[in-house]
Amino acid sequence: MPSLPLHLLPDTATVDDRGALSIGGIAVAELAAAHGTPLFVYDETHLRRRCREAVDAFGHQQAVYATKAFLCRAMARLAYEEGMLLDVASGGEMHVALSAGVPADALTLHGNNKSLDELRYALTEQVRYLVVDCDEELDRLELLHAEGLPVPRVVLRITPGVHAHTHEYIATGQDDSKFGFNLGNGAAHRAVDRARRSPAVELVGVHCHIGSNVFAVDSFARAAEVMARFAAPLGLPELVLGGGLGVPYVGGEESSTITEWGRVVLGACEALDVQSRISVEPGRSIVASSAITVYTVGAVKEIPGVRTYVSVDGGMSDNPRPVLYGSGYEAFVPDRVLDPREARARLVGKHCESGDVLIFDAAVPAGLAAGDLIATPVTGAYGHSMASNYNKLTRPPVVFVRDGGARVVVRRENFDDLLRCDVG
Ligand code: LLP
Repeated sequence: MPSLPLHLLPDTATVDDRGALSIGGIAVAELAAAHGTPLFVYDETHLRRRCREAVDAFGHQQAVYATKAFLCRAMARLAYEEGMLLDVASGGEMHVALSAGVPADALTLHGNNKSLDELRYALTEQVRYLVVDCDEELDRLELLHAEGLPVPRVVLRITPGVHAHTHEYIATGQDDSKFGFNLGNGAAHRAVDRARRSPAVELVGVHCHIGSNVFAVDSFARAAEVMARFAAPLGLPELVLGGGLGVPYVGGEESSTITEWGRVVLGACEALDVQSRISVEPGRSIVASSAITVYTVGAVKEIPGVRTYVSVDGGMSDNPRPVLYGSGYEAFVPDRVLDPREARARLVGKHCESGDVLIFDAAVPAGLAAGDLIATPVTGAYGHSMASNYNKLTRPPVVFVRDGGARVVVRRENFDDLLRCDVG
């Protein structure tokens, strides 16, 4: 197996003649020594470039960063500074974004089952708009209206009946979905009528999101067409077309850039003479390939005739995606990036179950041993954000690197953090 495909690394990655990797001008081995492992290393330049690319492709305040992909205060500020709005999908995400100093009118609130408290929080803060997902949410908004809270601007989430080709857990545009008002069975039209008549909301647009990690950009064009046809007679100012652009995780995978995605989506809308303001909600394509996770090998178990297990100091608690979706990753040794990876191993974590797998059949350099660093690229999206404390592991820190400097933006958890909410 050849060495790591370098295009999977963050934009500012460089490899010296000895094969040692630096990101943001700092050697990854040095970062691991300074901050310990497991460690998320994010390339700040890469993040800023992707945000700007999205803003250039879709327009100022028409690219909304889906914070679920990766959120901490530094990330919220960065996306906002670069001209993006922020999509928050819970009261918690909203709270983090607000506490970062992002103004409420830059936030859009999502969720298929927002609680009364979350809605009250959003109305009190006066977020830009709410994406309403179901009738019960309209009921709750009517209750809050009766309490005297401000009337929110709302966008209705529509299920357009477009099936995106991706893992079934992250496909959301098909009729059989928990999300949104179905277009096919008339629920979408009924919701529009209800929202228009309700004094509790100001209807400003419609929304769809067909799924995540979608590689076939023509799926987005199809959804855009369906939504444009639905939206045209309504004459509403906002048409929100969700996120979902896929990214390559392993060698051989290819995806469109944000710029190309923009051309396809906006082209489809232009062809139909859409008058609404079009916006999108990219998450993964902004952050995924900006980061790597660095681990330390702790044990190598060779079972002759079966396989070799390489155990690292993290696992499904910092990256549950392989277990949840069977997602593939590559592995490499940060100070031997150019080495051929001629051995095979199952890269596993330190959790108490056999399912704790990071890479089922990884190509790795021969001779890995305890104490070696090993890293996985493209872990910037849905890794840190889906991390857990399973087995009471402490979650890794997040370090942003840029121009030869590193700053810890989320510190490593400690044992006291594990007891913070334990009041028994
Ligand atoms: N907008 C809405 C309404 C969404 O539900 C999502 C993702 C996005 C935007 C952002 O999609 P993106 O551009 O990141 O694909 N945990 C899964 C992904 C779940 C995506 C959920 N919704 C994963 O690790 O693959």
